[in-house]
Amino acid sequence: MTLQHYLQFSDLTAEEYAWLFRRAAIIKQKFKAYEKYHPLADRTLAMIFEKASTRTRVSFEAGMYQLGGSVVHLTTGDTQLGRAEPIEDSAKVISRMVDLVMIRTFGQDKIERFAKHSRVPVINGLTNEFHPCQILADLFTFLEHRGANAQGQPDPALLKGKTVAWVGDGNNMANTWLQAAELLGFKVHVSTPTGYEVDQAVAGIRSGDSYKVFKDPMDACRGADLVTTDVWTSMGYEAENEERRKVFANWCVDTEMMAAARPDALFMHCLPAHRGEEVEAEVIDGPQSVVWDEAENRMHVQKALMEYLLLGRVG
Ligand code: CP
Repeated sequence: MTLQHYLQFSDLTAEEYAWLFRRAAIIKQKFKAYEKYHPLADRTLAMIFEKASTRTRVSFEAGMYQLGGSVVHLTTGDTQLGRAEPIEDSAKVISRMVDLVMIRTFGQDKIERFAKHSRVPVINGLTNEFHPCQILADLFTFLEHRGANAQGQPDPALLKGKTVAWVGDGNNMANTWLQAAELLGFKVHVSTPTGYEVDQAVAGIRSGDSYKVFKDPMDACRGADLVTTDVWTSMGYEAENEERRKVFANWCVDTEMMAAARPDALFMHCLPAHRGEEVEAEVIDGPQSVVWDEAENRMHVQKALMEYLLLGRVG
């Protein structure tokens, strides 16, 4: 098989996403039915964490075991990565011993360098610039709730014409939403405070056709099919916390913003959430919120992704 990495959302085609969503639905069904499915028996996933995680660690680790494989959990503090071993050397060594690597790190350049020297597929488990596994789960969750095709399958073609409102920081999640919108044909309404805008070059998109910028977050939410946000201070930016709390005060998703969206609009948050900051408790714990499905779906879509990167189109 050709070596294929998943370092940003645009690494796969719309057609490959259609396949992944179908596989994720099948794999999720097997999990719910306690049906054994071990296509990755004897395969090993190395997970490298340079930042904290709950969902990413549990979803990859539980997911890999459920597929019959095993996992090695590494952090900067307990490996030579924390003692300045070059990332290229680490990639050459680790990828001779395992079948798949997932990395959560700081700059996208680090994961790109690792992948360049890896013999096995590398998956982005979050960088400062992108969080593709999260958007994969978010889109799957949206399709589960808001439409399947005539065959009952989640179909990304149904995303065409939909609008996602992004309220908050122009961060890795916002960048990844922009990549997904360009690839899959939906629109993103982006509202960020001044100084925290999305940057088309960093987001790695070709044009500005798939997104529109709004000064007022309420305007961004008007008519949206999905309203979504993230913490005001992403990991790695903690020194800016106090300043951000002041600047982002108006970028809290509240019931008024949800009322401006379509009546059947969903609310998503990649979690962890800070109630009373980027989202009101009434919204995240309210009837339009699908955050728990969204979190669970990380595992199902990543199982489909690992299966695809290691075995190709099976099933
Ligand atoms: N959403 C997400 O990536 O969660 P964790 O930081 O807990 O992995």
